[in-house]
Amino acid sequence: MNPRLKKVVIGVVVLGLVIQFIPTVRSNPEQRETPDAPPEVVTLLQRACYECHSNETTWPWYTKVAPLSWLAADDVSGGRKHLNFSEWSKYSAKKQAHKKEECWEEIESGEMPLWFYMPLHPEAKFTPEEMELLHAWGKPGGNRDEGDEAGEHDEGDED
Ligand code: HEC
Repeated sequence: MNPRLKKVVIGVVVLGLVIQFIPTVRSNPEQRETPDAPPEVVTLLQRACYECHSNETTWPWYTKVAPLSWLAADDVSGGRKHLNFSEWSKYSAKKQAHKKEECWEEIESGEMPLWFYMPLHPEAKFTPEEMELLHAWGKPGGNRDEGDEAGEHDEGDED
């Protein structure tokens, strides 16, 4: 190897090691709640959203290796700040209704889950039937609209 290139490679390796010592926060606060949603919807949210929007983040190994760890920690803290299903009771009823609508908007528009999350998390993709469930849950006003084909999910919101 040419000596210059060798120096560069050594430099990159050393830097790669050194950045591992920069602390990142990967905490999971205590609070564990579930949002007000039918159980099948909760399952979907847990599957696709909980890594960033709950206190139940699993922090897989690659989230412990810098620089990915910084991005992951940043997404989780940003995600929790905007929406934390584990702390659902902290939101007022009005805010909860708004969050539900926002969830559906984000899912429908394909903004959430974040695109770069998908290749590593194929389970976060929803089938058309699952989209229907999420729609029924997050639709503004909670009513189905005219054109919708009828599904067989009940819309009771008793809990
Ligand atoms: C990889 C982490 C990640 C995943 C997975 C994820 N989100 Fe997010 N979400 C974020 C971050 C970060 C934000 C903060 C806003 C931003 O950066 O776009 C956010 C913001 C939001 C917001 C608030 C938008 C706003 O304008 O305030 C909603 C609603 C939301 N996400 C819903 C969901 C739903 C529903 C899912 C699952 C289908 C999901 N997210 C999956 C990271 C994630």
